[in-house]
Amino acid sequence: MDKTFVMVKPDGYARGLVGKVVTRFEEKGFRLVDAKVVQLTREHAEHHYEHLRAKAFFDELVDFIVSGPVFAMIWEGKDAIKNARALIGATNPSDALAGTIRGDFAIDVASNIIHGSDSIENAEKEIKLFFQ
Ligand code: RTP
Ligand code: MG
Repeated sequence: MDKTFVMVKPDGYARGLVGKVVTRFEEKGFRLVDAKVVQLTREHAEHHYEHLRAKAFFDELVDFIVSGPVFAMIWEGKDAIKNARALIGATNPSDALAGTIRGDFAIDVASNIIHGSDSIENAEKEIKLFFQ
C-alpha cells in the first residue's frame, strides 16, 4: 500500500468541492489517512512547487496557491500515485476526460482545483511538508 498527497487548491475549496473530491477518493477505494485545512505561506508554496521555479507561470502559481485556504489530504491505496492521478485527470482541464475530477469540475489550467503527487519521493516530501 502506497500513500499519496492530494490537495484541493484554493479555487476548489472556495467553490465547496472538498466533499465531492473526498467522495471520489473514497468511492475509488482509497483510505483517508489524514486531512486538514491549511493557509499556505509563500515560503511553503515555493518549496512545494520548487521543481517549477524556472517556468514562466511560477509567480502566478505561487500567488494563486496562497490566495486562500487549501484542503490537504493523505490517501493510502494500491498504486496510490498512479490511481490518484488517474482520478484527478490531465493537468490542463481542456485535455482531462469527463469522469475525472479536472474533467468534470475545472476549465482552466491555472485553476485546476486539485493537486496530486507525481512520484513516491514527491509524495513523501509533500506529506512531510504539510503534516510534520
Ligand atoms: P499538480 O502538481 O498541481 O498536481 O499538477 P500536475 O502534476 O498535473 O502539473 P505540474 O506540471 O506539476 O504543474 C503544477 C501546476 O501548475 C499549473 N500550471 N500552469 N499556466 C500554465 O501553463 C500552467 N501549467 C501548469 C497547474 O495548475 C498545475 O496543476
Ligand atoms: Mg505536479
